[in-house]
Amino acid sequence: MTHLSLRQIQIFDSVARYENHTRAAEKLHMTQPAVSMQMKQMEKALGIDLFERHGKSLSLTSSGKSLHKYSHEIIQAYNNMLDFADDVKGCQQGHLTISVASTANYFASRIISAFSKLHPDITISMDVTNRRTILQQLQCYEPDLAIMGEPPEGVGLMSEELMPNPLVIIAPPEHPLKDKEKIAIKDLQGEKFVVREKGSGTQKTIKRHFSNAGLCCTTTLEMSSNEAIKQAVSAGFGLGVVSYHTIDLELSSQRLITLNVESFPLQRYWHLVAHKEKAVSPVADAFKAFLRTQAKHYVP
Ligand code: PGA
Repeated sequence: MTHLSLRQIQIFDSVARYENHTRAAEKLHMTQPAVSMQMKQMEKALGIDLFERHGKSLSLTSSGKSLHKYSHEIIQAYNNMLDFADDVKGCQQGHLTISVASTANYFASRIISAFSKLHPDITISMDVTNRRTILQQLQCYEPDLAIMGEPPEGVGLMSEELMPNPLVIIAPPEHPLKDKEKIAIKDLQGEKFVVREKGSGTQKTIKRHFSNAGLCCTTTLEMSSNEAIKQAVSAGFGLGVVSYHTIDLELSSQRLITLNVESFPLQRYWHLVAHKEKAVSPVADAFKAFLRTQAKHYVP
């Protein structure tokens, strides 16, 4: 059975392209006699003439021309195979830097852990911080990706919507409005609120919403974590506005309740965000694809 090595096909492809042994030898980092010998062996193995030799010059026979088309396809497929292997390797190893809004952390850690089980050789650094800091980090090209509320437009960011982020009003179980079926926003006038810190997306949204509704809310405490807000609300400091993502345990253990206030849950959306000019690594691409398929399982 005729046998040709991949190396011979590569050499033939190169000689056929340049119709010159010396040029092909240079490209392949071989000597000219070694190239010439390989081509003679290939002709012998195939039993056909590939080249016409006129003194020092060389040209392809018509069979040689036809074979050149095949050799070109073989080399192309071989290179594609190597590129594919590199891509696979690229998204199995490497490092992912991700920034997550404090509130998104309630589901992001679980998604990242699931991703990490599939790609154990990828190392991940995750910063959990508020909206303002994430925007600053993105402007400095720090994280590969961020999970946050809607980013501002016109600042060089690309974003795609991932899933809903409903904001609800929480209260201690004994709150006087607990049994009221439909609470008008104006009924909250006079209530005290425990809110997130300046720079938080949740605070920004709720302030804008209350002000549009003509409600002037009194803030008793400003706190930089959702956990602290839940503790303060259950201790009686006032009402709170938090994402539904954050209150699973408190609702099931009845430490907190949600109030049925008009226009709530206030619908926000989580976004996957990156700087448009930051190169997307294969690892970041793999995580994006994973997130797009998995996000729906984490809708509260
Ligand atoms: P944060 O996140 O309130 O934790 O900053 C929400 C958002 O980015 O909108």
